Amino acid sequence: MRQETKCIQAGYEPHNGDPRMIPIVQSTTFKYDTSEDMGKLFDLEASGYFYTRLQNPTNDYVAAKIAALEGGSAAMLTSSGQAANFYAAFNLASAGDHIVASSTIYGGTFNLFNVTMRRMGIDFTFVDPDCSDEELEAAFKPNTKAVFGETIANPALIVFDIERFANAAHAHGVPLIVDNTFATPINCRPFEWGADIVTHSTTKYMDGHDATVGGCIVDSGKFDWMAHADKFPGLTTPDESYHGITYAEKFGNEGAFITKATAQLMRDLGSIQAPMNAYFLNLGLESLAVRMQRHCENAQKVAEFLESDEHISWVTYPGLKGDKYYERAQKYMPNGTCGVISFGVKGGRKAAEEFMKHLKVAIIATHVADAHTCVLHPASSTHRQMSDEELIAGGVAPDLVRLSVGIENVDDILDDLRQALSFVK
Ligand SMILES: Cc1ncc(COP(=O)(O)O)c(C=O)c1O
Repeated sequence: MRQETKCIQAGYEPHNGDPRMIPIVQSTTFKYDTSEDMGKLFDLEASGYFYTRLQNPTNDYVAAKIAALEGGSAAMLTSSGQAANFYAAFNLASAGDHIVASSTIYGGTFNLFNVTMRRMGIDFTFVDPDCSDEELEAAFKPNTKAVFGETIANPALIVFDIERFANAAHAHGVPLIVDNTFATPINCRPFEWGADIVTHSTTKYMDGHDATVGGCIVDSGKFDWMAHADKFPGLTTPDESYHGITYAEKFGNEGAFITKATAQLMRDLGSIQAPMNAYFLNLGLESLAVRMQRHCENAQKVAEFLESDEHISWVTYPGLKGDKYYERAQKYMPNGTCGVISFGVKGGRKAAEEFMKHLKVAIIATHVADAHTCVLHPASSTHRQMSDEELIAGGVAPDLVRLSVGIENVDDILDDLRQALSFVK
């Protein structure tokens, strides 16, 4: 199946007389005839469901669809993108371990790593995604357990050199985790470039309609855990908290990572996606391919318009020929990148605020990457406590406007931008 068909058909195959749509299994509990039947599930001897804190059939249909879209061997849904990135990292690293991460990742992930996971005893080295080979090499330590980056960084729109970072990670015997939220598997499939684990905030394009918060982790099934057994004892030695199972032995490279994350992390931390949300996510996934195409077409036109408008001082969009990341985007995402653009309004913070006040089609929202065009001025909202100097030091220019181009008629978006910009003096 091609990607467009997988969006509709993968993950759930109805049999004779079954419902065409994935059933919403709105049940915490599952019934068994004997304790022995249930015991086999607990021992992971048989596959099935016993409690929705760990697994639910609706979630698994949707996770299987995302695994198919990414070309992975196994996947799981989580309650949010934050939970997905936390589980992906924590499934590999424990107190005393270390992770190399790109410095331009989404602020929420940066905070999760730099503050919360540090408090758990996990160390991080953040590297500029465009650092030299020497700098990248120097970031690795003997206790490094993973490398982490975002396909297209939110909001910096830096395109991550997946192949380069995968080679560096593998040279040190560790997997590369890539947050593929902005590109989606329609535009980029990180496993084809050597990534080992992919994460998503499904809240963004996958859901696509501002309806549900969610996350997903997909395993490529290619990382050889046993070949690096000393680095990953959690996967390669018996889990005493789970009947002495050695995940890599019992489930192989294809199943070990997701089984451990489910049996151990989901069991103990319980950040599962509600089955009803998984159902809504599936509706979003069905139209993901057509929506991504439209997002990219619209964003390209909007970026080209902004580039030529006299009120605009700069535009960043990897689909623009003059963009710093154009060539890299052509390599990894030849069919389009995403619908998010950032730009500056001449006149700085005040001009940006004035412009946004007059927008009618584009709504002011902290969210990005869904059907509705939305806009955010970080300096006057999410980052309003910071001075201009502090903003610049943090990589967020005071005039930076983040525009998430939706799938409305592009002429309405352009008209709206034009009329709002006419108020900027
Ligand atoms: C690239 C990226 N990863 C992860 C997240 C976190 O996802 P969520 O908000 O679903 O927890 C976000 C949220 O904006 C994001 O943009």
